[in-house]
Amino acid sequence: MKVALTGIKPTGVPHIGNYVGAIRPALELAKTCKARYFIADYHALNACKDPEEIRKMTLEIAAAWLACGLNPEKVLFYKQSLVPQTFELMVILMAFTPKGLMNRAHAYKAMVQANLESGKDSDDGVNMGLYTYPVLMAADILLFDTDYVPVGSDQFQHIEMAQDIAQSFNYNYGKEYLKIPQAIAREETKTLLGLDGRKMSKSYGNTIPMFASEEELYKLVMRIKTNSQTVEEPKDPETCTIFAIYRNFATPDQTESLRRRYLAGGMSWKEAKEELFNVLNAHLTPLRERYNELISQPDDIKRILEEGSARARELAAKKIKELRQVIGVD
Ligand code: ADP
Ligand code: TRP
Repeated sequence: MKVALTGIKPTGVPHIGNYVGAIRPALELAKTCKARYFIADYHALNACKDPEEIRKMTLEIAAAWLACGLNPEKVLFYKQSLVPQTFELMVILMAFTPKGLMNRAHAYKAMVQANLESGKDSDDGVNMGLYTYPVLMAADILLFDTDYVPVGSDQFQHIEMAQDIAQSFNYNYGKEYLKIPQAIAREETKTLLGLDGRKMSKSYGNTIPMFASEEELYKLVMRIKTNSQTVEEPKDPETCTIFAIYRNFATPDQTESLRRRYLAGGMSWKEAKEELFNVLNAHLTPLRERYNELISQPDDIKRILEEGSARARELAAKKIKELRQVIGVD
């Protein structure tokens, strides 16, 4: 059986981009793979220094996974911080990671660029956690002999870096001690668009939270940015944010039928938004109900994560023991 692994940082409320890009495909994969899904809390620390916020978001992301159907008896479900072998592997991998590779990481480069544009020192506000973020992520992945990593396309570069680091380790010791992971993403869910037509992201404040109330969901859908075409004009589904979100929640028949209405003309943006609201609300209502129940019992969620983390530590300890022998620190 292949191994699937993914993590979500506990920063900001989970949104439907996280759902279609990471949670849903991961749960689909869990049907045929050994799955390891976790809360990447040490990744969150780079950006968030508020302990209450990290605690709260950890529970919310965990409840989101469970509400979407993650079965902790089948999926290894844990908190990164409770699997300290991750950090030992990170130190090992540091010795195989060229500094130049980190210089090319998108998130780091974007910060440097922004600093230069505003006349600041190029590394202003960049901590070593942000700079070495891809090495920690490689450790998460390589620790569990991962085959597949279900993520949105924004994470592809990190997976490629994990491949490079693993290859450099394997090359040095002459054997595939570290499994080479592959990113998994479906074409249409690579990047879900947000309210303003850019990638839906907490960082842009353009998200539709997964568990927004019905009223809030309606308001957000009505806020999606559209162009100024008149009702009569035929509309292009392929360049429309409403349609881009719709197709991820509707059946193929519903998608086809809305596509025809776009092309035929005579449909207002308001009507298209109503259609989107209806499929979204139908899809999200049962999830929202389960989520609200789960989040009211935080001790149960903590217990589930602790149990999963204990099992994860056992697996991880075996891997680290093997790697210590390989590198000669046994
Ligand atoms: P954000 O960009 O909102 O901060 P995260 O970086 O926490 O989201 O992403 C968690 C997971 O959700 C990652 O696998 C990421 O690729 C996926 N993801 C986030 N936003 C989107 C999106 N708009 N479309 C598809 N997948 C997404
Ligand atoms: N970097 C990922 C994100 O920002 C989160 C993450 C951390 C992750 N470790 C991982 C994803 C390992 C997949 C595998 O979304």
